[in-house]
Amino acid sequence: MSFHDAIGFSPALNKSDGSLMKFSDVELEFPQNAGIDTPVITNKAIALRFPAISYGDYIQFAAAVAIRNCAGPRIKFWHGRPDPTAASPPDMIPDPSDSVTKMLDRMGDAGFTPEELIDLLASHSLAVQEDIDKTIPFTPFDSTPTVFDTQFFVETLLEGTMFPGNGSHPGEVMSPFPDEFRLQSDFLLARDSRTSCYWQSFIEDESVIGPRFAKAMEKLSLVGQDKGSLVDCSHMVPDVVDITPRPPHIPAGKSLDDIEASCTERPFPTITTDSGPETSIPKPPKGNDGDDDEEGDTEDD
Ligand code: HEM
Repeated sequence: MSFHDAIGFSPALNKSDGSLMKFSDVELEFPQNAGIDTPVITNKAIALRFPAISYGDYIQFAAAVAIRNCAGPRIKFWHGRPDPTAASPPDMIPDPSDSVTKMLDRMGDAGFTPEELIDLLASHSLAVQEDIDKTIPFTPFDSTPTVFDTQFFVETLLEGTMFPGNGSHPGEVMSPFPDEFRLQSDFLLARDSRTSCYWQSFIEDESVIGPRFAKAMEKLSLVGQDKGSLVDCSHMVPDVVDITPRPPHIPAGKSLDDIEASCTERPFPTITTDSGPETSIPKPPKGNDGDDDEEGDTEDD
């Protein structure tokens, strides 16, 4: 939500932070927002109970709390965004079928460098797909979907061998494991000469992921805002026990030969390869997706 709300910005247009919620009737019709209708609707119902908090503040605070609750880095939270006055225009959110040039241009227009886009994509370490292939909802983008780590950067470089669901869909490319999903956008950014060495740098030094992601997320949360008129309320973001993730590694069943190393400036780093039967990929625990007819769903109260 944080990205899909904030990226609806261009210097040529009025800023409209929080518009994803306030004008959800308009913005949830954008094809790129297909997978986030339930979180937006669920969170809007909560936000409405706190009229003193703007939608923009709500979205960015919720993102900071959610990331921390998943043992991601502590993102600074600035409070005081005014409420939006208009919906974001269509076609501002990158699409998984976009070319690298189109993605970089869109991000550049909103004030982000190619490196900052890759920093933000560390979020795909904790992400799943629901709407590209609806037959396999909650299929993650790496083998450690509940841990904020660098496995996403390793596994997007593995050779794709299969489609995990019912075949190919726009925005999808072949994945290396039957229970893992791969976006075309991630595949291309991992291999493009403009971004591949920076992509690899997360595998060369896994300690950079937290600080880089926190800095880029703070910038995302301030897009189009006057920081001087906001108040630093970062102390509101909970402190949780840090989890030390495993260093980047090649999952069992694959080897270095399966890595499509794409950085031409430096060799691919030496990382360990797990042995044993092919890594099995857990589905992340299902949150409240608003689908009340499925076993195990609970009311969100
Ligand atoms: C080139 C830019 C990006 C593209 C093309 C892209 C595309 C996508 C797509 C297609 C999905 C799956 C949606 C679904 O089927 O439910 C997804 C999931 C996700 N993305 Fe991105 N994304 C991009 C950048 C980002 C950024 C910058 C962030 C955060 C700062 C982000 C956070 C997430 C998260 C958290 C999910 C999982 C949502 C869930 O669990 O329901 N993405 N992304």
